[in-house]
Amino acid sequence: MSVKIAVVGAGKFGQMHLDAFTQLGYAGVAELAAIAEANPKRAEELRKDYACPIYTDFHEMLADKSIDAVSIATPDHLHKDIAVAAAKAGKHVLVEKPLDITVEGCDEIIEAAKSTGVLLQVDFHKRYDPDHQAIKRRVSAGELGDILYGNVWMEDRIEVPSQWFPHWAPNSSPGWFLGVHFYDLVRWIVNSEVKTVYATGTKNTLLKDYGVDTYDCINAKVSFENGTAFAFDTSWIIPLNFEAVVNQGVRIVGTKGLFECDSQDRGTSSCITGEGMATYNNNFTRQMKDKYGRKILRGYGVESIEDFAYNVSFLKNGGTIDKIEGCWASGEDGREVTRIAVAIHESIKTGEVIKLR
Ligand SMILES: NC(=O)c1ccc[n+]([C@@H]2O[C@H](COP(=O)([O-])OP(=O)(O)OC[C@H]3O[C@@H](n4cnc5c(N)ncnc54)[C@H](O)[C@@H]3O)[C@@H](O)[C@H]2O)c1
Repeated sequence: MSVKIAVVGAGKFGQMHLDAFTQLGYAGVAELAAIAEANPKRAEELRKDYACPIYTDFHEMLADKSIDAVSIATPDHLHKDIAVAAAKAGKHVLVEKPLDITVEGCDEIIEAAKSTGVLLQVDFHKRYDPDHQAIKRRVSAGELGDILYGNVWMEDRIEVPSQWFPHWAPNSSPGWFLGVHFYDLVRWIVNSEVKTVYATGTKNTLLKDYGVDTYDCINAKVSFENGTAFAFDTSWIIPLNFEAVVNQGVRIVGTKGLFECDSQDRGTSSCITGEGMATYNNNFTRQMKDKYGRKILRGYGVESIEDFAYNVSFLKNGGTIDKIEGCWASGEDGREVTRIAVAIHESIKTGEVIKLR
């Protein structure tokens, strides 16, 4: 039985959600049942490409009883009210990372999902990268020994906060927009909770020239309960002519060995007139065509969203949530990552080490 999924927020990343459910429609797994997009101009554009109902008010969409699930790709600080309303309407919910930018907001979403017994999943897609999964597998098997330390970097070109969404970048930061991906990934790999956080943040170097009032970079040192120490370097001010929109990677060192992953450059590069040098994170998305010539995306960027549809399908076809518990990033995972991010921002403000446990 195919599942009916609606998308709320069809901006830059919402497009990935639209593509995911569209292509699952080809396989009869899911149907893109509706779209809610608050910007009337964008909603009008979508009407040309999508045959499903398109709303500007998500509340109206939630009244459609035939919709099984909702995936939310609105700006970070606008997830909560939609997630709570969707869960209360009995829809399974996928929320883009971060679940919310307050711990209390995460609790509210989790409670709403519990009250109606729906699935609550967070789109932490780094868990679906096959190279990251290899690290997780080998760490879990003890092949790296006890994990002592590691470091992570995730950096966006400056066009992301200054041109893509300058209107809501001040409600976000490199920690919220980028860091949360890797706070989740590392917590998942080392299988331990964060004990303490110390962070610094730098403002007013580059983004001020674009009138965007937020941190240019955030650098955090995080200790886990099992003794592992990690450094997370995040920024969104790297030059426009860098070889990719994102630069990212992870390095992890244990008593029996180490593992390093360039999570951006996966081995192909190009240099085309007018474009300059480019490298590609092909694990994230590869655009292909199926045998009928239809656009198909592969890679963890789309597969983590598809995974939600498969979970909803499992439930619609008689499965229960307890049978798949632990197989996706849950509301509780989202809440823990938000706790880490909140502590990082608190440490920047106070200059103190913040104890989470
Ligand atoms: N997983 C990833 O790799 C990844 C990458 C980029 C962004 N994101 C996340 O996706 C989310 C969206 O980011 P983006 O870059 O697409 O932002 P965006 O500003 O491009 O798009 C957000 C869209 O949401 C719409 N919107 C806002 N409030 C709404 C409401 N109440 N109802 C319906 N639509 C509403 C806006 O009109 C806009 O079109 C953020 O949470 C962001 O952190 C995830």
